[in-house]
Amino acid sequence: MDAEIPKKVESVRWVGDTSGRLVLVDQTRLPLEFVERTCEEVSDVWEAIRALRVRGAPAIGIAAAYGVCLGMRPHVAAPRRAFLESLDSVHAYLASSRPTAVNLFWALDRMRDAARRMPDTEPLDPLRRLLDEATAIHAEDRETCRAIGRNGASLFADGQGVLTHCNAGGLATSEYGTALAVLFTAQDQGKRLRVFVDETRPLLQGARLTAWELGRRGIPATLICDSMAAQVMRERKVHAVIVGADRIAANGDTANKIGTYGLAVLAHAHGIPFHVAAPCSTFDWDLPDGDGIPIEERAAEEITEGFGRRTAPYGVDVYNPAFDVTPARFISAIVTERAVIQPVTAERIARVLGSR
Ligand code: MRU
Repeated sequence: MDAEIPKKVESVRWVGDTSGRLVLVDQTRLPLEFVERTCEEVSDVWEAIRALRVRGAPAIGIAAAYGVCLGMRPHVAAPRRAFLESLDSVHAYLASSRPTAVNLFWALDRMRDAARRMPDTEPLDPLRRLLDEATAIHAEDRETCRAIGRNGASLFADGQGVLTHCNAGGLATSEYGTALAVLFTAQDQGKRLRVFVDETRPLLQGARLTAWELGRRGIPATLICDSMAAQVMRERKVHAVIVGADRIAANGDTANKIGTYGLAVLAHAHGIPFHVAAPCSTFDWDLPDGDGIPIEERAAEEITEGFGRRTAPYGVDVYNPAFDVTPARFISAIVTERAVIQPVTAERIARVLGSR
C-alpha cells in the first residue's frame, strides 16, 4: 500500500484547467488505505467536507475554493448579474457544510469578492478568474505553513517532549501543516523531539492521521488516549503542548478539536507552555471573544458506534460537540505566518496582526 503513496502528500489538488476536477486524499480511509477521491460536482465537495474526507481548517478552505469553481461551471455563460446570484447560492451551499472552521468562510468570501471585482467589460472567462483565485489561496497556504514552521520552531528545544491533539499537519492544510509544521521545522533544525499524540476521540484524527504523518517524517511519536495526558504531564514527559486552531477570536480565545480546552487547563496546572499555531485566516475579527464561536455538533453514532462497532447501549442520550473553546489566558503563544504572538491578548494580537 505504502508504495502508492507519493513522497509529498497533497491533501487537495486541482487537476486540469477550468474544465478540471478536484482530487482529495480521503482522510477517512487513512492510515490503512491511501485513497484519492475525485470531485466533479460541487455536491461532491460539500459531502467530502461534511464527512471529513477533507478536514482541518485550512484544507477545508482550499477545497471549498475549488468547490466554487465546480459549482459555477454550469453558470459560466450566464449574464453577470445572474452569474453573481448563482455564486451567492454556491457560497451559501458550501458554507453550510461545517460551521466552526472560519477558514471555510474566509475562502468562500475571497472567491465571491474576486468574482464581484471583475468589471463588466472583463474579457477574462469568469471561471478562469475563479480558478486563479482558488489556486492563489492554495499557493498562499503552502507559503503560510512554511512561515508558521519557521516562526514557531524556536519555541522548542532539543530533547523535549511535546504533546499534540487532533491533526494539524500536512493533511489538514495544503501539505506542511501548522502545529506539525513547527515540529517538522524544529526537526529539520536538528532538534530531536518526542511527540505524544492524543488519539483524539471520537474520530481519532491523532491516532489515524498525526501518528501516520509523524511516522512518515521519522519523528518519534507515542500514541496515548486523550485521558492519559494528565498522567504524562505529571510524569514530566511533556515540556510543551502545541495544537492547531479552527477559529480564533480577536482576544485570542481559540476553538479547536474537542479536548483541546481540557489539555490547556492541564498544561496550565502543570506549568507547561500551551501553544497554538494557525494562519491569520483563522482569526475571526468579527468576534471579540470565543463565546460567539459556533460549535459543530456531530452525529451520536460517532461516539456510540465509531468505526462500525457498537460500544454503547441503544437509546443512550449522547452529546457530541466537535470543538471546544480554549480561553486566551491558557494560551502561551499563537504562532502565525507573520509572527509569534506572545502574550496572547487582544491588544497584542491587534498590534502584531493589525486586522484583515
Ligand atoms: O474536525 P476536524 O478534523 O476538521 O478538526 C480539525 C482540527 O481541529 C484541527 O486541529 C484544526 O483544524 C487545525 S488544522 C491545521
